[in-house]
Amino acid sequence: MNTDILIIGGGIIGLTCAVELKLRGENVTVLCRNFTEAASHAAAGMLAPDAENIANEAMLTLSKRSLYLYPEWVGKLEELTGLSTGYWPCGIVAPVSQKPTNHSQSPGYWLDKSTIEQYQQGLGSDIIGGWWYPENGQVNNQALIQVLRSAAESLGIEFQDGVTVEAILQQQSQIMGVQTNKGLLRAGHYILAAGAWSNQLLPLPVRPCKGQMLRLRMPGIVQEIPLTRVLYGENVYIVPRKDGSIIVGATVEEAGFTPNNTAAGIQNLLNRCTRLYPSLGDYSLEEMWWGFRPATPDELPILGESYCQNLTMATGHYRNGVLLAPVTAKLLADLIVSQKPDPLLNHFHYSRF
Ligand code: GLY
Repeated sequence: MNTDILIIGGGIIGLTCAVELKLRGENVTVLCRNFTEAASHAAAGMLAPDAENIANEAMLTLSKRSLYLYPEWVGKLEELTGLSTGYWPCGIVAPVSQKPTNHSQSPGYWLDKSTIEQYQQGLGSDIIGGWWYPENGQVNNQALIQVLRSAAESLGIEFQDGVTVEAILQQQSQIMGVQTNKGLLRAGHYILAAGAWSNQLLPLPVRPCKGQMLRLRMPGIVQEIPLTRVLYGENVYIVPRKDGSIIVGATVEEAGFTPNNTAAGIQNLLNRCTRLYPSLGDYSLEEMWWGFRPATPDELPILGESYCQNLTMATGHYRNGVLLAPVTAKLLADLIVSQKPDPLLNHFHYSRF
């Protein structure tokens, strides 16, 4: 293996870092234990820093920077691969059933009942108004992760699926190699992008936070679906895709790595989404799945330098991995290749725990 940089983790963060580093001239290898398990497959692909109500100032800055990188970044990937990412700056509407106490603190525009009903017909009868977030949108995360795989392949990035990193070999504050089920692998630099599994390798406070999701489809042959923007409700979101399917998410569960969908989880999502947008009750239920968000105690990612000079952290993205992928890759490439640490990284340093 002839590699400058070894990335541990083949989800959206690992792949995005790999592509960015390769475009900056580095030889990159990505090790992935099981590509299908990455949280990026399970996500809904919302690009929603406003709708997610991110309160931490540094996190909001990071999220906005990433959001603004999206059009150019997906354009570059689409040009490279000839494939679509489904990027759609469709805006997000967040209907509410109770009047908010403080309008001035929201980054959105308030829509009263009649305005929101005109803008989005078919909302539940208990909706009294809502917020409109015109800067937010979505990307088809499942398409995006395949586009990233394809981009990585066409750029000559080595992607090794089915490789489990069992241990990280350290000597005198240097990583000397990683022990895997396929043998010892070495590189000049290492990036930890193992998402919810990061804590199996290093003592980081990253835990899995389970999310269950489902996909609905309007019955019959439909030319146009009546939803063209994301609906971000109270404990549920509804994400219409351009292919006519509708993603509904997501539960937030402290269940460790317990697999599978549960009756209660799916019932909860169905109750909430049909209350928000009642006609979904007639849609067909196409698919259900689950994934594990990498959560940290303060819900902020762990980015940048580590206790070893040749190991960089890129984990703990919790609910915002898809949104934060481009900015994570940019800041870490600036750090690793150009030795230009962005001061914003200080807020996401591992040592805060
Ligand atoms: N970003 C939404 C979620 O994690 O459910």
